[in-house]
Amino acid sequence: MKILGIESSCDESALALIEVNPNQNHHLQSHDHSSETSQSAFLNTTKTILAHYITTHNNHNYGGVIPESAARQHYYYLPKMLSRLLSEYPTALSDIDMVCASTSPGLIGGLMIGSCVAKAVASHISKPFYPIHHIEAHLLSPLFENNNLHFPYIALIASGGHTILAHVTSFSNYTILGQTADDAMGELFDKVAKYIGLPFPGGPEVEKLALNGTPKYHFKLPKIRDNPLGFSFSGLKTAILRQIDELLTLTQSESSIKSLSLQDKQDICASLQHTVIKICEQKFIQAMELFPDTTNLILAGGVGANKALRSSLNTLAQTHNKHFIVPDIKLCTDNAVMIAWAGYLSYMNPQLRLPNINSKCTNHLTLSALTASKML
Ligand code: KG4
Ligand code: ZN
Repeated sequence: MKILGIESSCDESALALIEVNPNQNHHLQSHDHSSETSQSAFLNTTKTILAHYITTHNNHNYGGVIPESAARQHYYYLPKMLSRLLSEYPTALSDIDMVCASTSPGLIGGLMIGSCVAKAVASHISKPFYPIHHIEAHLLSPLFENNNLHFPYIALIASGGHTILAHVTSFSNYTILGQTADDAMGELFDKVAKYIGLPFPGGPEVEKLALNGTPKYHFKLPKIRDNPLGFSFSGLKTAILRQIDELLTLTQSESSIKSLSLQDKQDICASLQHTVIKICEQKFIQAMELFPDTTNLILAGGVGANKALRSSLNTLAQTHNKHFIVPDIKLCTDNAVMIAWAGYLSYMNPQLRLPNINSKCTNHLTLSALTASKML
């Protein structure tokens, strides 16, 4: 089965065509899609990325994403990507079985453009349109590459817009254990990077400088009063910015960020990265205590590209006898493959959603979050 996916929730315009076929010895036997047998059947599939085009908007001059400008770029790039797909795969339109686009959460202009393009294609070829919850797609993305990954798992989705720790027990069954009360984890990297004059997005730049720095500044790990599994990064950000200001006043008379030495920048970056790693480790440890039977720890979202974080969480998982799984970097950051894949899983769970050309995204995560807040 061939699925077209479109992602346009933030500053990445992406379009993917994937093919998913059940493995021969695992064909679905029944229509009971909630049973363990059928779940392992549709996990055990052969997945191929036939095409994946992705463009990240150049926001370097602005230090962040400008929603209007991002929306205009989606409007420019998505139709071009569709044309490219049709030139490379002339039969694509007649082969596509379903069309998916992220419809929530995200910047409304981008979401509208992506879903309009997807609905237009679906309508033209008379195939169903599936609205996809962007975070749900991140949560399910590790299953695309790992046929051996099974529920339940604990997943941390950390990007420029979200920080969510979830317990994933089956398709569309997620308990949000914690999320950020203010800034997202990637936003912390971006804001500190901007303060010390590094280009956007800041995460990769901070990681580079951290390589030659020492984590000599000790910042307190944020404490969230009403939920120990929740996150907060704005207090930490303020503490880091204060430390930078202090270094500036100590080192010279002119308090321009340009006068901050390279070594100071490297040490600040190393300290920031070290603190974030400690926070992630702490949350995973608490989540493992809450769900001791969970054998898999997952990291996804743009911050999941951070090698030091990946390596520390891998060690943590091994120490606790768990498997650590992080999608390939191109599937960690925003992408259209995960949208198409989430669409396929939606299709395999027909009781969860009705495909409809006008349908809105069902916000399972919000519902689960309510349940979770009662549970904790
Ligand atoms: O998932 P993503 O591509 O887009 C959304 O924000 O949804 O994540 C982008 C975020 C940015 O904040 C960026 O600074 C951060 O991920 N990021 C990193 C690294 N690469 C990207 N943060 C830390 N270390 C990295 N290597
Ligand atoms: Zn994302």
